[in-house]
Amino acid sequence: MTNPPVLLSGIAPSGRLTLGNYLGAIRHWVGRQDRDDCFFPLVDLLAVTVRHDPQRFADRCRDFVALYLACGIDAQRSVVFVQSHVPAHCELAWIFECHTPIDELHRMTQFKDKSRRHAKNVNAGLMSYPVLMAADILLYKATRVPVGEDQRQHLELTRDIAQRFNTLYGPVFPLPDAHIAATGARIMSLADPSKKMSKSDSVDANIVTLLDEPARIARKIKRSVTDSESVIRADPTKPGVTNLLNILAAATDVGIASLEDRFRGLGYGALKTEVADAVVALIEPIQERFRDIRSDPASLDRLLADGRARASERAARTMSEVFETLGLIPRLG
Ligand code: TRP
Repeated sequence: MTNPPVLLSGIAPSGRLTLGNYLGAIRHWVGRQDRDDCFFPLVDLLAVTVRHDPQRFADRCRDFVALYLACGIDAQRSVVFVQSHVPAHCELAWIFECHTPIDELHRMTQFKDKSRRHAKNVNAGLMSYPVLMAADILLYKATRVPVGEDQRQHLELTRDIAQRFNTLYGPVFPLPDAHIAATGARIMSLADPSKKMSKSDSVDANIVTLLDEPARIARKIKRSVTDSESVIRADPTKPGVTNLLNILAAATDVGIASLEDRFRGLGYGALKTEVADAVVALIEPIQERFRDIRSDPASLDRLLADGRARASERAARTMSEVFETLGLIPRLG
């Protein structure tokens, strides 16, 4: 029997996990666990490219992991761990940095965006972080990388790095593919549907977080921005209504076309009520499981220690191959 494909994905623990993260990413990860060999690092080192709050950081990271588990990530079947606990990520990133032209990093859209937003702190890590991401992926020889549209460019860079390495030294790394989900990949902001729902959005009305109280979730959805036409159909000129239809489609697994049929002749109020009910029904059980998991941080940390051991073993295999191909003295013992 051939080995199942290795799948790896991560979300940086900055801001708060949103409905967009769940529908666009985590939900799809959950569904792959039976088929793929899954790795879910909490990519904490990405969060320090911008100034973070050391006082609250560990707890925020635990919240993220607890939410992954509450959403259905199974730490027995999948490897759930913290990026910074496996130093090989940084070691491989260093080697990859030495094989990545600076120009390519300067060209990254996310780097340009972030440099604008954090103009006072355009540090080297902000620029080289896509290389660390390449290391996250290639360390485990992952070939399936479910990500949002905004990460396509970073996946291309990862493939370029792997290819360059293989050409110079020999075939060590498989080339990973970006897997971009067909539904739910782009959940937009509720109050400004021209932009993506972002977990680091500071305007609370824009996002539904996975830990918002149900009444608050319903309120935000009911106040979401639509348009003055009062026809329920998915259409690029109607970003607010389209977003609500996308959310409802993803939350209930019903196609957009049949939703359009069902809502024919009805008003935005009816649509919003249904979206709010569907989202609350989806998120409430996640919150219950979250509270349960989060009430026992010692068990959570033990689970991460186990994930670290399993990830480290796989990482060590790749690193010894990399040492050998690069001609470094093997690490014995
Ligand atoms: N760069 C991703 C983001 O900003 C997070 C990430 C880091 C990632 N390492 C990864 C995603 C590896 C997929 C695979 O959302």
